[in-house]
Amino acid sequence: MKAVILIGGPSKGTRFRPLSLDIPKPLFPIAGLPMIQHHVEACKKVSCVSEVLIIGSYNAADIQPFADEMSRSNSLVIRYLQEYTPLGTAGAMYHFRDQIRAGGEDSFFAFNGDVCADFPLEELLQYHKSKKSLLTIMSTEATRQQALNYGCLVVNNKGCVAHYVEKPSTFVSNLISCGVYVASNEIFQTMADVIYSDRSQEKQRITNGYGKDSTYISLEQDIMIKLINSEKLFALPVENWWSQVKTAGSAIYVNRHYLALYRLHKPERLVSASNIKYQIIDDVYVHPSASIHPTAVLGPNVSIGANVTVGAGVRIRETIVMENAQIQAHSIVLYSIIGKDSRVGEWARVEGTPCDPNPDKPFAKMENQPLFNIYGQLNPSATILGSYVSLASEKILLNSIILPHKELTRDFKNEIVL
Ligand code: GDD
Ligand code: GTP
Repeated sequence: MKAVILIGGPSKGTRFRPLSLDIPKPLFPIAGLPMIQHHVEACKKVSCVSEVLIIGSYNAADIQPFADEMSRSNSLVIRYLQEYTPLGTAGAMYHFRDQIRAGGEDSFFAFNGDVCADFPLEELLQYHKSKKSLLTIMSTEATRQQALNYGCLVVNNKGCVAHYVEKPSTFVSNLISCGVYVASNEIFQTMADVIYSDRSQEKQRITNGYGKDSTYISLEQDIMIKLINSEKLFALPVENWWSQVKTAGSAIYVNRHYLALYRLHKPERLVSASNIKYQIIDDVYVHPSASIHPTAVLGPNVSIGANVTVGAGVRIRETIVMENAQIQAHSIVLYSIIGKDSRVGEWARVEGTPCDPNPDKPFAKMENQPLFNIYGQLNPSATILGSYVSLASEKILLNSIILPHKELTRDFKNEIVL
């Protein structure tokens, strides 16, 4: 069986900047692994999955090395298929339908590349088969307000989707699509019907003016809507942890959850207090090539990338530090992301604001707030240092976003440094 990961392209994911300026968002490291490697690992656990197809419009040079490395180190075949232009979530799969169908299996998994979860793939597949479904959607509950930012589903007592609205403007349902699917190969016939329908041809004549390809089709807006009430579109509501990754702040939140999943399923990936000289507060991931001073304290929820150096007396919590960064002696880093090759000087303080889901609201998801509030002020969020940023000693950086290649020699509070 195959699995497809839709990763979009360089024109998408603007809310993830500046972190996606020099690394494609799907490869941003979370809990020490590129974001979509977590999808690959979930696929590895399903015995019938033998091949993962990553589909997107990034240059092959950006994604191919990751795919090659994954193929070498896994029993799965991992391939990157490049769209010549964004074709939409269904259009991308339709374009590569021959590759997806090759091998003769009757169904495949499909994932949005920007979701993170404890993926219940076996359960989803069994459900799909038991319902003889054409398309089965993993779904979860959100708050009434937050559901408006997702695809909303109404499901009848047979589990069949009776109503679906993508990002509705008024309340439709608390049940949302997680962007994780099992599809039967006959879905390609539905896609063909949509592309060649008269209505669609008419629509294309209009949308082409907006620069979309004539074979652009959205799984959510064109295919799922068509399948409503056909008894072929099903949803499986699950309670597993799940989140989208849209903003840089959400990366810290998903980092924490992936670390917690390591604790349950792969504790050997986490730093264990018995094997190290420095102090940790669980959960912490440290790349084996990183050098941490024995008087530093890391955690909870910290991921340290390759070749990072952490000096004496440093305190880091709720943070991702990317490869080659230096955190010099006695500095403190909280709720932040430190880009690769960046340097935080001695006795400096880098601090962001937690933007976790509201713990008092059941089913709350990440807010993914816009950068500015209605008064034009920066909304407090994680502090982000782009790559190759240098912060001088004894300076404070609070709730700020710093674009790559900056030398910071004064304090910054609630600022974007362009
Ligand atoms: N290959 C390819 N080509 N991938 C694409 C394209 C395309 O043209 N367009 C989007 N994608 C990828 C994105 O990279 C992302 O991983 C996924 O498809 C969905 O992206 P969007 O179309 O931007 O939708 P969204 O993330 O705002 O919402 C989707 O996900 C939600 C769950 O996170 C929808 O599926 C919602 O219904 C759903 O609730
Ligand atoms: P925004 O509303 O602009 O945040 O985008 P979106 O939500 O429509 O995009 P989405 O997050 O669904 O798509 C993100 C995809 O675009 C990811 O899978 C990344 O692959 C990619 N991406 C995002 N930002 C960048 C970037 O700056 N550079 C590159 N190379 N890729 C990016």
